[in-house]
Amino acid sequence: MFVALGFLWLALLAGGVVAYGTRPRARAEDEPWPRFVWLALATAVLSLLIAIPFATIHFSRGDRLHKSHTGVVLDDAQIRGRQIFSDFCKKCHTLSDARAASTIGPNFDALPPKFDVVIDAVTNGRARGNGQMPRGLTDAAGARDVAAYLTAVAGR
Ligand code: HEC
Repeated sequence: MFVALGFLWLALLAGGVVAYGTRPRARAEDEPWPRFVWLALATAVLSLLIAIPFATIHFSRGDRLHKSHTGVVLDDAQIRGRQIFSDFCKKCHTLSDARAASTIGPNFDALPPKFDVVIDAVTNGRARGNGQMPRGLTDAAGARDVAAYLTAVAGR
């Protein structure tokens, strides 16, 4: 879209140059500005009005949703998994991508878990070691999402 607007701009400028030449000529006091000047100005203002909201959406919202803190591009399932992680897992586990630094459960930066291990831990809970992890913190779909997120970002 920006490219198209850029071309429109160039076309208008070129049109002006063809019609009036590049050398400025004397302009009578009461002579109105040539029409292409107004056209070019209007196009510029319009393209800015259109471009700014698009750029804002593209560069802020898009980036925030799809790029993780450690620079991994996340798909929709992994984005849901990230939300689940910060809602239910962050308070016990360490994971730099989620800015999580709790030491009740294993540290996923040091020990990146396998997909199936995450599913199993979330489904059945964990009761060995020096702490407890309750089962069923999220449903089966949530378990897959959080497993997809974890396997994408753990250890980075
Ligand atoms: C109340 C604290 C707590 C919460 C909340 C918690 N965990 Fe745990 N988690 C633990 C503890 C403690 C262990 C280790 C238990 C053990 O070794 O038996 C563990 C173990 C695990 C393991 C197993 C690691 C391995 O190598 O066996 C995975 C995977 C895991 N948690 C993922 C999650 C996910 C995903 C969530 C969020 C849905 C979560 N945990 C929420 C405390 C928690």
